[in-house]
Amino acid sequence: MGQLFSSMFDKLFNINKDFRILILGLDGAGKTSILYRLQIGDIITTKPTIGFNVETINYKNIKLNVWDLGGQTSIRPYWRCYYTNTQGIIFVIDSTDTERLNIASTELRTMLQEDELKDACLLVLCNKQDLQTAQSIDKINEALQLYDLKDRNWSILGCSAKTGDGITEGLDWLIDVVKENNVE
Ligand code: GTP
Ligand code: MG
Repeated sequence: MGQLFSSMFDKLFNINKDFRILILGLDGAGKTSILYRLQIGDIITTKPTIGFNVETINYKNIKLNVWDLGGQTSIRPYWRCYYTNTQGIIFVIDSTDTERLNIASTELRTMLQEDELKDACLLVLCNKQDLQTAQSIDKINEALQLYDLKDRNWSILGCSAKTGDGITEGLDWLIDVVKENNVE
């Protein structure tokens, strides 16, 4: 009886459940840096990702399988191979890369049209906020026009993989939404 109750409790609160999270964004945005900031709590030296990195992150009693995909133009068409069963997307923007904000916006829109991602929540992280030339979150939001998004849980936050600012806030938001969306 006790075991049945405990398993119902675990199911209800998604304890011990795995969630699949994708980190996407243009090359150089800081996806791999964010993945390892989440995993080891520090900044690492990165190389451009050819393919993907995947790490399991245990946080607040749940297990996140976090996939960081390479963002170079030639690799982006392969993002869709990873969409199945994804509960959350972290889309990373380099806040200093104003020239390519329109390309980032187009890639984001294209991705959000995919049927396989229709139930996934979206966290946009405006990374590199430690740099003086970083655009404000409001400016980036205006360019991405996230206000237009209907029927999707989304949020936009500033962060820095270098200093760690904003990373925990982002993860907290993502976990709360993913848990809420997946109550059985
Ligand atoms: P691809 O794998 O090519 O798609 O790139 P990526 O998005 O994984 O970028 P990556 O994490 O490799 O970071 C690219 C560069 O930006 C590296 O030199 C990082 O050290 C740097 N970088 C990442 N995050 C930050 C940040 O918050 N602040 C600063 N100043 N630099 C950062
Ligand atoms: Mg990378």
